[in-house]
Amino acid sequence: MTVAKTINRKLVKTITQRSLSTIAPQVRIYEVGPRDGLQNESKFVPTDIKIELINKIAAAGIKDIESASFVSPKWVKQMSDGVDVMKNLPRAPGVNYPVLVPNLKGYDTARQCNVEEVAIFPAGSEGFSQKNLNCSVEEGLKRFKLVADQAVKDGLRVRGYVSCVVGCPYDGPIHPKGIAKITEQLFEMGCYEVSLGDTIGVGTAGSVQRLMREVLTVAKPEQLALHFHDTYGQALSNLLAGLEYGIKTVDSSISGLGGCPYARGASGNLATEDLVYFLYGLGVNTHIDLVKLMEAGRYISNYLGKPTESKVNRALGDRFKNHNDIAKMASCDV
Ligand code: HMG
Ligand code: MG
Repeated sequence: MTVAKTINRKLVKTITQRSLSTIAPQVRIYEVGPRDGLQNESKFVPTDIKIELINKIAAAGIKDIESASFVSPKWVKQMSDGVDVMKNLPRAPGVNYPVLVPNLKGYDTARQCNVEEVAIFPAGSEGFSQKNLNCSVEEGLKRFKLVADQAVKDGLRVRGYVSCVVGCPYDGPIHPKGIAKITEQLFEMGCYEVSLGDTIGVGTAGSVQRLMREVLTVAKPEQLALHFHDTYGQALSNLLAGLEYGIKTVDSSISGLGGCPYARGASGNLATEDLVYFLYGLGVNTHIDLVKLMEAGRYISNYLGKPTESKVNRALGDRFKNHNDIAKMASCDV
């Protein structure tokens, strides 16, 4: 072996060891399938199917499931049965069922449904704010502050999203400084966590690193979540880039469903099944039963009449009956 090759191998080994050592031993998965996953589906999914999907995801061991949104039904018809979903959903002990709200009207509806956590979602770009919320970023932040103030007063948890954190379908590339500023404002409003959303999936490991370096000047890694859409197939590598900064919460969507109807070109989120397999391979603890999760994925894909977007679900099908066998395979544990 040449000297250059030996040095190269040593370098790769050092970098790998250094990188992987910063990854948290346990990662919390925040499932967005019943909300982000379904909101972009043109065929209306009946309430009982939505509820069954949420139950199946909970049965797989996921503890945070964003279950509905109380946005204007004129804007997103698919989410118009949010009240029925939340009122009829049996709540499993220890499972958190947050909902997305755009304004005080949506917040009041959430309160009537005994919700314990709401999510607010300012945009990281002017163009997307106008398309998604019909107002400027500044006006959106003012409206979300009203929601957060009321929620904090009522003793509810508030989660913040910032969308279009690296790129916007209308404004192009987004500077991380502006995203850090909005993140900081969300914490000032009382959010316990801010999820950074690559709404249209244009990010790469490089742009995610730049984003992390900037946002981590205003937040601790444990206060952040990562929310990657997989339009360009970059979600898992983007995630690895983010996890190396110590991030402990990841948003994903069952079967890789998802997308925002107001973000031109947006497609599905990182699939939860693929995320769990990926984390198994890193030796990260998730407490999720991947076999049950894949069943949930097949359930909703079958209902929608389209193949799953989860590569893991496609590859494994129903060949495995036990998640330990899959975990062993993912970690190449010999
Ligand atoms: P607007 O048209 O400017 O609002 O929309 P408005 O106040 O003029 O109201 C229009 C109508 O909607 C009125 O009805 C309101 O009562 C009603 P009318 O008087 O004409 O009969 N309305 C409502 N109804 C029920 N619940 C409500 C509500 N609010 C108003 N809460 C608005 C402004 C913000 C309402 C609208 O733009 C909207 O609903 N936007 C939400 C769009 C959306 O849900 N996008 C997807 C979620 S964001 C996302 O997916 C990104 C994320 O995943 C992160 C990432 O990927 O990066 C979070
Ligand atoms: Mg999203």
